[in-house]
Amino acid sequence: VAQDAQAGKRVFNKCSACHAVGPNAPNKIGPQLNGLFGRTAGSVEGYTYSPANKQSGITWTEETFANYIKDPRGAIKGTKMVFAGIRNEQEVRDLTAYLRSFAAD
Ligand code: HEM
Repeated sequence: VAQDAQAGKRVFNKCSACHAVGPNAPNKIGPQLNGLFGRTAGSVEGYTYSPANKQSGITWTEETFANYIKDPRGAIKGTKMVFAGIRNEQEVRDLTAYLRSFAAD
C-alpha cells in the first residue's frame, strides 16, 4: 500500500514525547494533533504557540504538512518546535495516513 497507518503509528513515536492524538488528547510540549488536515496553523485552543507558527498563514493539508515535517524550522522560521524533521518520504506518507485517522474532537 502507498500509505500504511500502522507503520505511521511507529513513526509517530518520534512525535509522541511532544504531541498526543486520540480521544481527549491533551496539549503537551506541542499541541494535540487531532483533525490536523484542514486545520489552520496555530489554532488549537488552550495551546500557546510561537508568533511564527500562529502567523505562518498555513492551512495544514497533506502537502503543507509534508513540506513542514521534512524541515520544520526551515518551513516556519522561528517555530519553537525543535525537531530535526523526517526526510524519508515513505515515513512521511505513513505518518500522514496515521494522523488522518484522528478526527477533530
Ligand atoms: C507544532 C507535528 C515532533 C514540539 C507542530 C505542528 C505540527 C507538528 C503539525 C503545528 C501544529 C499547529 O499549527 O497546530 C509534529 C510531528 C512530529 C513532531 C508530526 C513528529 C514527526 C515534535 C517534537 C517536539 C515538537 C519531537 C518536541 C521536541 C512542537 C511544538 C510545536 C509543534 C513546541 C509548537 C510550535 C510553535 O508554536 O512554534 N508539530 N511534531 N514536535 N511541535 Fe511538533
